[in-house]
Amino acid sequence: MMRSRTQVGIVGAGPAGLLLSHLLSLRGIDTVHVELRSREYCEARQRAGVLEDGSVALLREAGVAARLDRQGLEHGGIYLQFDGERHHINFRDLTGGRTVTVYAQTEVVKDLIARRVADAGPEAIHFNVSGTEVADLDSDRPVLRFTDGGGTRHEVSCDAVAGCDGFHGISRVSMPATMLTTWERDYPYAWLGILADVPPSTDELIYAHHSSGFALHSLRSPTVSRLYLQVDPDENIAEWPDERIWAELSRRFALPGWTLQQGPVLEKNITPMRSFVSAPMRYGRLFLAGDAAHIVPPTGAKGLNLALADVAVLAPALAALLHGDDKLASAYSATCLDRVWRATHFSWWMTTMLHRTPGADAMAAQLQLSQLRYVVASRAAATSLAENYTGFAFH
Ligand code: FAD
Ligand code: PHB
Repeated sequence: MMRSRTQVGIVGAGPAGLLLSHLLSLRGIDTVHVELRSREYCEARQRAGVLEDGSVALLREAGVAARLDRQGLEHGGIYLQFDGERHHINFRDLTGGRTVTVYAQTEVVKDLIARRVADAGPEAIHFNVSGTEVADLDSDRPVLRFTDGGGTRHEVSCDAVAGCDGFHGISRVSMPATMLTTWERDYPYAWLGILADVPPSTDELIYAHHSSGFALHSLRSPTVSRLYLQVDPDENIAEWPDERIWAELSRRFALPGWTLQQGPVLEKNITPMRSFVSAPMRYGRLFLAGDAAHIVPPTGAKGLNLALADVAVLAPALAALLHGDDKLASAYSATCLDRVWRATHFSWWMTTMLHRTPGADAMAAQLQLSQLRYVVASRAAATSLAENYTGFAFH
């Protein structure tokens, strides 16, 4: 067993863990950072694609936005499509100039890993670890244990531990169950997502309500599209050859005079949809951030943004805690949960307004359509969507 000492132990190298280790290093704080998967796996995992203004500003302030500034695609709105019509929601106009930026999570992760390795060497992040454990959380010296890729067991004595290990990680379940309250909602549908080597057929993302189910046209670059189809949660991906996917996407996005360009499918996967919140986000010297504490369905494009917002609050709180000031750390959970619940509501609202609920009566679809008509007809309703989608100021 190798014993060592650090200031902050970080579990998980997704967006939350990576940005946290970088923000702490900017403050001169020492970290030991562990990740279950390989660097290649973390850099290739297809997930979110939309950054709020606040996320872009945060990455810029942290000095990790050079490529984002070159390659990110600024979007000033989205389309809502229903009842055979496509309506533009103009974020710039509705929110006094706010926008979102399309820049894939994979790229954020690559940029952050590259920066950590450039600043702290190849040992900045221990990839391929196993047997991660956190212990002594209610003491001043919590412990992080793991086995590195070469098989050596480590025990690291820390001042604090950040659990950034996603929904299936070990951090949240290491808190005493009796002190946690959780809220959870599973949805009776999933998203089948494809990455396609074809220029996007649209200038803004299209969120489409259709009697066969929801569809979303997003993008990754001027030459690569990302598209999603609502499917059943137990859908077998083998039953979705590329031709079937394109036919279904074309049907759900159909508009007279508009064609969905098709191209080679580079990747496909099915993602379940869930809302989940666990509170509080702190127990003793363990702090949860990102998906470890909360999950939203992807319809509002909030998951990645929430993960970044959490660590923007956590980094200064940990810095103060290490200097003996617990005030920000005590406020951490409540500060984050405020934003988390807003995003949880918005994501639930977008999701239930746009998806077909299997088994629902005919009235359910009429209620959705009425809500959609209201959103595009009322400036007040459109502004509510726009300000939630573009996001609220970071703390
Ligand atoms: P994660 O990105 O999950 O990172 C957690 C990291 O911890 C992982 O790298 C994991 O390997 C590591 N880890 C886990 N357990 C351990 C352990 N025991 N020891 C060490 N490391 C560990 N959001 C959207 O807005 N749009 C989308 O289209 C979208 N698609 C998604 C698809 C999937 C399959 C998933 C799971 C999420 C998706 N999300 C999407 C949500 C968004 O990607 C997440 O909110 C975001 O990744 C959260 O970042 P995070 O750093 O908190 O967690
Ligand atoms: C994506 O590009 O992957 C994406 C965009 C918007 C969403 C969800 C996912 O709401």
